[in-house]
Amino acid sequence: MTNPNPISRLEYPGSQGANAAPLISPRNYTFLQTYIYRESGIVLDDDKQYLFESRLRPIVIREGLASIDALCDLVATGRSPALATRVIDAMTTNETLFFRDTAIFEVMKTTVLPELIAAAGSRKLRIWSAASSTGQEAYSLAITLLEARIDPSRVEIIGTDLCEQVVERAATGKYVQFEVGRGMPILLLMKYFTKVGLDWQIKPEVRNMVHFQKLDLRGSFAALGKFDLVLCRNVLIYFDATTKEQIIASIAKTILPGGMLVLGCAETLISVDHKYERKVFGHSTFYAVR
Ligand SMILES: C[S@@+](CC[C@H](N)C(=O)[O-])C[C@H]1O[C@@H](n2cnc3c(N)ncnc32)[C@H](O)[C@@H]1O
Repeated sequence: MTNPNPISRLEYPGSQGANAAPLISPRNYTFLQTYIYRESGIVLDDDKQYLFESRLRPIVIREGLASIDALCDLVATGRSPALATRVIDAMTTNETLFFRDTAIFEVMKTTVLPELIAAAGSRKLRIWSAASSTGQEAYSLAITLLEARIDPSRVEIIGTDLCEQVVERAATGKYVQFEVGRGMPILLLMKYFTKVGLDWQIKPEVRNMVHFQKLDLRGSFAALGKFDLVLCRNVLIYFDATTKEQIIASIAKTILPGGMLVLGCAETLISVDHKYERKVFGHSTFYAVR
């Protein structure tokens, strides 16, 4: 993992522009790649200089450090776990929106969820939003269930993510205008949110359907129990083939008979060794365990 572009010249307050010292040395670029991979499984290639700089710069400034190199040196000592967590959190990509890929939620409302709840019989339907980011996916599911007139007391939704900051934010169920503007239909916004100042607070009836917790998908998630439906969307793209295969195999063990996995629209299991069978509903693909 050699860095082809070792000279980075970020404009920190007081820096001398083009004459400023490089802020990520080749040694620390390699350290960051290795460290982030070890702590999250996220692969950051040799051309991600700008990403490290733009994501780590705010931490450098907030901590009053001289440079990203200084931040790396501090993280490498292992003496500041809180700082290390912030570095890892900063390098996760938390991009998400409500009802991402609308067709999937439509087919869940009309077909998949009613079928799963019927099959669940007297037990609760269990759904897992793995890599839930700031919660939009999990709350979209909760709203979909309510819109499908499924009794919320018969459902349990768990949202998990590696990034501590997004887990905390998801649990608040509070979103700014820009966030609800991304994917939340106006009628559902009016029905399931309350305006609080400039923000939108999801109503307790929706928030109480979802629980969030921190979880690394590479670790054991046996403690979460088994699920009828797992959404693992737009996260596998950040991993290498080995990590992807391991996560996909672990998820298969958590899926109840008749249950299914959903990936992001641009994701497939092609070239991954797996035990799933493709099931197509309308234009949407689900994966059942063979
Ligand atoms: C792009 S978001 C996807 C959010 C949502 N699933 C969606 O499709 O809109 C990817 C999320 O994966 C999380 N993530 C990255 N590595 C992870 C890991 N090893 N374990 C659990 N979550 C991880 C990130 O923190 C981030 O919030």
